[in-house]
Amino acid sequence: MVDTTPDTTPLTGQGHGGGPAPQAMAGMQRLMDHFAGYFAVSVLGLGHRSGLLAALLEGGGTAEQIAARAGAHDRSAEEWLAALTAAGYVRHDQGSFSLVEGQDAVFRPGLLPFDVTVFLEFQEKFGGMIGQVATAMREGTGVPYSAYQPEFGRLQDRLNGPLYEQFLISDFVASAQGLVGRLEAGVDVADVGCGGGQALCLLAASFPASRFVGYDIDEGALSIAAARAAERGLGNVGLENRDAARLELDGVLDVVIAVDAIHDQGAPDEVLAAIARALRPGGVLLMVEPLASGELDVDAARPTALMGFATSLSHCVQVSLAAGGPGLGAMWGKSRALPMLRAAGFRTVTTHESPADYLVYAAYV
Ligand SMILES: C[S@@+](CC[C@H](N)C(=O)[O-])C[C@H]1O[C@@H](n2cnc3c(N)ncnc32)[C@H](O)[C@@H]1O
Repeated sequence: MVDTTPDTTPLTGQGHGGGPAPQAMAGMQRLMDHFAGYFAVSVLGLGHRSGLLAALLEGGGTAEQIAARAGAHDRSAEEWLAALTAAGYVRHDQGSFSLVEGQDAVFRPGLLPFDVTVFLEFQEKFGGMIGQVATAMREGTGVPYSAYQPEFGRLQDRLNGPLYEQFLISDFVASAQGLVGRLEAGVDVADVGCGGGQALCLLAASFPASRFVGYDIDEGALSIAAARAAERGLGNVGLENRDAARLELDGVLDVVIAVDAIHDQGAPDEVLAAIARALRPGGVLLMVEPLASGELDVDAARPTALMGFATSLSHCVQVSLAAGGPGLGAMWGKSRALPMLRAAGFRTVTTHESPADYLVYAAYV
């Protein structure tokens, strides 16, 4: 028999079964906002993958018209448009859908210094790795760099291309006093952890009197870099599969750049010391790392902090731990980087906060 006696227990907020506790409901609002954001990004990712997002960028219309442009199924297109209407990206008027003004600019290529669809694909990649990362979080084993490939390297390459076009020379390099002049005059430069060679090739093309070599341990990245250098006809670029912790170079370089490449390392202290040894007296390391102070209370307040810490947890910390490293993470920041640079043998370090959300360290031996 079913008991129909009304439950008259007062709401205490102590896990009572008769209704939601007020403090839980208050906390729920933040969680719901985050779920909404998560689902908006997931739905945008589905649109990116299915072609519906591109079709919508071509122009508005009914769900059928947009579906036809994308070569997608009508009913799925309709539900996708409904979800984006709820998310506030799409306006609906009598059966016709269009992107809300301003939102189209976010997705149209070339209007931002990065391709936002790369973020959608990163989210998809990280989502697919939750099982492995969760296991690694319990066991402390990390996740090796190879487990994220080839997608991670390709996405990084796509993300960084336009960003470096805009900021590498005019902001990162220009922030180190006298560096542009030295590169123009002709010096020996290495890019440590060069990846697909976006920065390397841009520098080599801009400073033809200088000689460049890119080091990386990822053969896939090195072949992308080689193709890029060949396509641009760059005769001043060499590439080598070499572990940054074992550069084994003694005073042969004038400039080293390491863009987004130190915090992932298994032995970041050894890498920095190897770079310091590789530099000639007066040589400079240009180390570009995500903008962070290293003080959680300061960094957590930055608008990009959640994304920074979350991607760091899902990738940067794990790859370093898997390589036997300290798992510095992308947000290790200035307060940890400066002592490490000094311990590695750099005598003077200047820093520059880039509008691209990077901290540029110019470290001199
Ligand atoms: C986040 S990616 C950055 C790539 C490139 N600098 C860029 O900005 O596009 C880090 C790169 O460091 C490389 N790497 C990691 N550990 C390395 C090591 N011990 N020696 C050389 N390269 C390494 C990875 O293979 C990867 O290509």
